Amino acid sequence: MYTPQIDTDIPLADFPPTFSDLSARVDAAFAALSELQADVEVTDDAQEAARAAEKCGVPFTLSTLSICSIEDVRAQTKEPFWFQLYVMRDEEYVDNLIQRAKNAGVSALVITLDLQILGQRHKDLKNKLSAPPKLTPRMIWDYTTKWRWTLGIAASGKYTFRNIAGHAKNVTNLSSLTTWTHEQFEPKLDWSMVAKLKEKWGGKVILKGILDVEDAKKAVEIGADAIVVSNHGGRQLDGAISSIRALPAIVEAVGDQTEVWLDSGIRSGQDILKALAMGAKGTMIGRAYLHGLGAMGEAGVTKTLEVLQRELDISMALCGRRDVTTLDRDVLLVPQGFEGVWQ
Ligand SMILES: Cc1cc2nc3c(=O)[nH]c(=O)nc-3n(C[C@H](O)[C@H](O)[C@H](O)COP(=O)(O)O)c2cc1C
Repeated sequence: MYTPQIDTDIPLADFPPTFSDLSARVDAAFAALSELQADVEVTDDAQEAARAAEKCGVPFTLSTLSICSIEDVRAQTKEPFWFQLYVMRDEEYVDNLIQRAKNAGVSALVITLDLQILGQRHKDLKNKLSAPPKLTPRMIWDYTTKWRWTLGIAASGKYTFRNIAGHAKNVTNLSSLTTWTHEQFEPKLDWSMVAKLKEKWGGKVILKGILDVEDAKKAVEIGADAIVVSNHGGRQLDGAISSIRALPAIVEAVGDQTEVWLDSGIRSGQDILKALAMGAKGTMIGRAYLHGLGAMGEAGVTKTLEVLQRELDISMALCGRRDVTTLDRDVLLVPQGFEGVWQ
């Protein structure tokens, strides 16, 4: 709950850079675009999202498992973007990926730590999501009734994960690519591997998928430039703590040593305000922009960002604040024991 402030001069919010240390040019970085594999929605997914993010001055993160490759996105953008890396078992492939990201001028590496194995996603099971897609009667109905989308896919020629296809050994078609991907997530992921990847990258590193104070401390120990408190949008461990509840303890433990951001569950500018007031230095969005992308492509992502910014702007003004860097818990009424006492 917020505590509105009466102010004779209702302030219009300024949005100074919250990601200042990481990106050379980020004017209004209130919400970075979390990496998504948006293949189900649009074929030129990442390119369109990256262009929209660039225009709004928001960092875009490209997924390892994206339809568009690092090179595709590079060709469509002027500003540096970020690249998300899954820790995979094929070291040669990972080294090559890191080199491709360097060649493309990627400005920060986002290493995802919460996907050592793929979580069980009940909706995906229910909807029989697979690659290549199985031709069920429902699928055929969807393809024919959404003919514009179907034609778009056919015309683009992009049916695969282009960061992998043509780069990983023994990946010849969509089936072998799916098998390869599932077998490649590194189940033995540990901090020494993360430190090694950081060294190989040699630039800014953001560690995503942290919910635990001890993990946050380890991330600081290895010199993470930022950590992202995230439960992967609830897609990995069913029943995991929400990121907003995990945030306060992590900010208290390491907030003065690295930047702490929040991801998972951001649906509005008010959610961003709450996260910043609870101590996050920035937020990331996943589904919020994906829905805009699915509905209207690049214009939809721009619209999403505008809506979020407007909501944040108005909510801040009504709380008597104009600068995101001055937000604190005084604008919120947080129930006692919100973080919870768990054992
Ligand atoms: C369709 C979909 C694909 C995703 N793909 C990736 C991915 O490739 N890599 C990754 O680190 N996170 C991935 N995520 C997780 C997001 O980066 C992010 O953590 C999550 O969406 C945030 O929650 P939100 O959707 O509530 O904003 C994906 C999420 C969705 C919904």
